[in-house]
Amino acid sequence: MSDPILKLSGLTKTYNKGKPSEVQVLRGADLEIQPGEVVALVAPSGAGKSTLLHIAGLLDTPDEGHVEIAGQEMSKLSDRKRTQVRRADVGFIYQFHHLLPEFTAIENIVLPQLASGTPRRDAEARARELLAQVGVEPRADHRPAALSGGEQQRVAFCRALANAPRLLLADEPTGNLDPDTSDRVFGALMELVRGTGLSALIATHNLELAARMDRVVRMDHGVVA
Ligand SMILES: Nc1ncnc2c1ncn2[C@@H]1O[C@H](COP(=O)(O)OP(=O)(O)OP(=O)(O)O)[C@@H](O)[C@H]1O
Ligand SMILES: [Mg+2]
Repeated sequence: MSDPILKLSGLTKTYNKGKPSEVQVLRGADLEIQPGEVVALVAPSGAGKSTLLHIAGLLDTPDEGHVEIAGQEMSKLSDRKRTQVRRADVGFIYQFHHLLPEFTAIENIVLPQLASGTPRRDAEARARELLAQVGVEPRADHRPAALSGGEQQRVAFCRALANAPRLLLADEPTGNLDPDTSDRVFGALMELVRGTGLSALIATHNLELAARMDRVVRMDHGVVA
């Protein structure tokens, strides 16, 4: 059997340790995602979904425990190598798009590719292709402020997939959209994910959306049930 694409083991995370405001968010969380698997992460607000996703996406570090991506233990890598893995192998989508406001939609998708060494022409061609797949190609040269919320989020999907990652992490990717738009935009995301055979961990409060994934995992008291 091949390695899981993501393996989290024994993750703990406490904020404000030793202070009255101390909060133990993760208490030994384990999770494995197999190649090609799309998993929904469902838990109430404050349960630690974002914390878990940020640790899995190498945007934050756990107090204890291990993050393995495609069989590689991340804490054993140098900072430089870890940054490479984060850029090349992991795509991250935030609840609020976090697009760079001073750049156009297409530039937002081109930039991470340039950072990974893709030539500009190829990066632009890929960005246009991705935008076309989610139906936002006609808006490619607009800045985020001139796009609707659903369009902004679809551009953010394209940005996350720009470097053809192996693992997609999404933190309530349609959480700030109205229900109809959320449904359509989520559909566009699932098409992208299924079309590339990507593995994904997607946090959502929406049980209907969760049911469209391969498996649903829940977090409870700092562990993944
Ligand atoms: N940087 C921080 N410093 C202190 N406490 C934090 C920090 N980040 C998160 N927390 C706390 O940790 C807990 C888990 O937060 P987290 O954002 O992971 O939850 P969540 O499941 O993503 O919630 P939501 O559904 O509202 O996004 C919350 O109680 C939160 O207040
Ligand atoms: Mg959150």
